[in-house]
Amino acid sequence: MEVATKENNENLLSVLQDIQARYSYLPEEKLIETAKTFDMPLIDVYGAATFYQSFSLTPRGRHQVKVCLGTACHVRGASRILREVKRKLGIEPGETSEDGEFSLETVMCLGCCAIGPVVVIDSKYYGQMTRTKMESVLKTIR
Ligand code: FES
Repeated sequence: MEVATKENNENLLSVLQDIQARYSYLPEEKLIETAKTFDMPLIDVYGAATFYQSFSLTPRGRHQVKVCLGTACHVRGASRILREVKRKLGIEPGETSEDGEFSLETVMCLGCCAIGPVVVIDSKYYGQMTRTKMESVLKTIR
């Protein structure tokens, strides 16, 4: 059994990033292969895979929608925005639409509270979001 070192951990993260980039998530069989390659317990590989938000154990959609539900966004109506997104996409947070186009997540602060409520789609930030604006943004992306 290999001893965990900083270099091993960096190599493991690099391999997990490659798998995530290729499949858009971390398939179980790839995690098992990775554990064998690194000669480490599978639970340690799962530990790394679940610690970092950039990894997913389920397939993600082509577009990642993140709705901020932090306090500043919440008081400005983030829950109404979330309801609209759920209604439009037909999915709950943590799910991916059937057509594989969208995945939905909620987050607790995106660090730009002043422009709340905030939604991030892929890496683009949309501030002062309204239900109407949300509908038009989703239409544009589809
Ligand atoms: S609470 Fe939403 S960006 Fe900070």
